[in-house]
Amino acid sequence: MSRRVRPSTVATRRQTQALAERVPDVVATLRAAVPAPATPHGAPALVLMMGFPGVGKSHCARLLAEHLGAAHVASDHLRGQLFVAASYAPEENAAVFRIVDGLVERLLGEGHRVIVDATHLRRGARESMAGLARRRGVPLTHVLVVADQAETLARLAARRRARAADDRSDADERVYAAMRERGFEEPEEPYLTIRNGPGLAQEIERVAGELGAGWSAAT
Ligand SMILES: Nc1ncnc2c1ncn2[C@@H]1O[C@H](COP(=O)(O)OP(=O)(O)O)[C@@H](O)[C@H]1O
Ligand SMILES: [Mg+2]
Repeated sequence: MSRRVRPSTVATRRQTQALAERVPDVVATLRAAVPAPATPHGAPALVLMMGFPGVGKSHCARLLAEHLGAAHVASDHLRGQLFVAASYAPEENAAVFRIVDGLVERLLGEGHRVIVDATHLRRGARESMAGLARRRGVPLTHVLVVADQAETLARLAARRRARAADDRSDADERVYAAMRERGFEEPEEPYLTIRNGPGLAQEIERVAGELGAGWSAAT
């Protein structure tokens, strides 16, 4: 191991390694904290939210989850529960996403519709969910959230100044700029788009309707 690695980094690595070995236990523990209807819908389905930081993915995911009777699995929220001081180091990301995968698998197994809330901008970040949906024979739909850039940047600045009690994302304007730079890789299959703006209520109605119709057609 490099001498330049600081003790805190070593500690983080140990913690993430230990966590990776305990995925099933951690999933079982965190399951209770996932917002989900008391009674599963019965026909499991998967929604992958996509979008740059601050566009309103978590806000839209909460509204969609209410409309659809779906569970809401938010990677930033889980990261906050797992790591007091999140580092976004590659090992930490890998551990968080293994837990997200485990939780999603478990919720689908219970018969829930599940909304997975993370940036999911690059194909590589969506691969494991796509594989999971294929293996389980569960329909998967991608939903991109877009918003006015000035409003998004204002939300990120506000988030940095005073974190809302329910806002667990650590992404700031720098992270936004870096992700913009890398860009969005569109999924190959058709996807839905929510415009987060003044007409959001109708947007949520429309997209919830389209998701529901697509899932009934698939069964
Ligand atoms: N349409 C909206 N109305 C009110 N607040 C919003 C709206 N969209 C986003 N927000 C707020 O802005 C902040 C950033 O939105 P969030 O959903 O967390 O973005 P993301 O998950 O894409 O990073 C949050 O505090 C959220 O509650
Ligand atoms: Mg979010």
